[in-house]
Amino acid sequence: MQRDTLVFDIINQELARQRRGIELIASENFTSLQIMQAMGGVMTNKYAEGYPGRRYYGGCEIVDQTEQLAIDRLKQIFNLEYANVQPHSGAQANAALMLAILQPGDAILGLDLSMGGHLTHGSGVNFSGKIYKPHFYGVVKETGLIDYEMLEAQARAAKPKLIICGASAYSRDWDYARIRKVADEVGAFVLADIAHPAGLIAKGLLSSPFEHCHFVTSTTHKTLRGPRGGVIMMAKDGENTLGLKDIKGNLRLWSNVIDMAVFPGTQGGPLEHVIAAKAIAFGEILTDEFLVYQQQVQKNAQAMAKNFTDKGYEIISGGTDNHLMLIDLRNKNISGKKAEQVLGHADITANKNMVPYDDKSAFVTSGIRFGVAAVTTRGMVESDMAFVVNAIDKALMNPDDAALLEKLKGEVNEFMSQFVLYPEL
Ligand SMILES: Cc1ncc(COP(=O)(O)O)c(C=O)c1O
Repeated sequence: MQRDTLVFDIINQELARQRRGIELIASENFTSLQIMQAMGGVMTNKYAEGYPGRRYYGGCEIVDQTEQLAIDRLKQIFNLEYANVQPHSGAQANAALMLAILQPGDAILGLDLSMGGHLTHGSGVNFSGKIYKPHFYGVVKETGLIDYEMLEAQARAAKPKLIICGASAYSRDWDYARIRKVADEVGAFVLADIAHPAGLIAKGLLSSPFEHCHFVTSTTHKTLRGPRGGVIMMAKDGENTLGLKDIKGNLRLWSNVIDMAVFPGTQGGPLEHVIAAKAIAFGEILTDEFLVYQQQVQKNAQAMAKNFTDKGYEIISGGTDNHLMLIDLRNKNISGKKAEQVLGHADITANKNMVPYDDKSAFVTSGIRFGVAAVTTRGMVESDMAFVVNAIDKALMNPDDAALLEKLKGEVNEFMSQFVLYPEL
């Protein structure tokens, strides 16, 4: 087969883009080279429906080893009794978990998308809002913090089967114990979706949801710095109290129910090349180096927040405990949409985001979200946040000055050249 230079040229352009820009999308990161090598390897050729030791295809004895390694390492990271590493993405993990424990039409309660929640927590345009009956809690307008009183009131009124905590754009830690308390009162399960802060939780830098939440899902590609994918976890397995059965009548444990909901419930063949890459990522997470990385992520986020606050920017909730922050741009007279575009001209990548109680649509928005997981992987430390925030401020204060933005882009590219990315490529 002739080499497809057209596609490889485009891939090389993407590498150049990643190298020269400041990557502030809170859900992105740069994996290690070995993780990318595993993803681009021969395991992509293998079909392996089923689970290690019980597959529907022959020739699975090798991929069984990497999948088992991924499971064992993930269990070690979070001290788990159960882990499923097959979900193709965070959304797939949530779909499978909900399929496992809910019936169509059951009530669920999640953080409103416009307040920082995720599509899969009950949005009307997503399976979660179409198949189940969604109810929402929000954040307190004055503080930007989770409105636990509203959550409790909604739980008591709606009697959901599932309460979901976790978010895409919330910069503070969670009170999992408080959520579990009301869940027990109304007979609900609790799912913590830790897609964003998982890396910080893995290293004990944020509270752990595991002792309070029945189920935990995550992506593997944000702060966990692995390949794109999802996982489902439980600290404690247990008897399936819903009495769910398969055709042989033997879904005794929650782990059995969840395994069935991933495959064959929502997926076919697992992505064994990605699972091998997950195994490598989980090995990296178990190192002390990864602790140092996560500590730096937290320090960088706090330094970035301080730089923004000093320049008069309004951070929702006033700061951050994790790797990200949401900024309300209304006092700066620029929309999130325009800010995203303008920053793009200066090779600074971020995404517009609604702020709580936003008066603009999801396509325009009043806010912008910044995360530091990726730039920390590039090697940035607290003192670098001054350059980053100054550059953002310069762009946002001069949104229509094409010459200034072009000059700024040159400065950004020059600045980024010191943070070497993938020298082997
Ligand atoms: C909280 C949360 N859950 C789930 C997801 C979905 O992950 P994926 O994009 O891998 O489907 C995201 C992605 O941003 C997220 O932020």
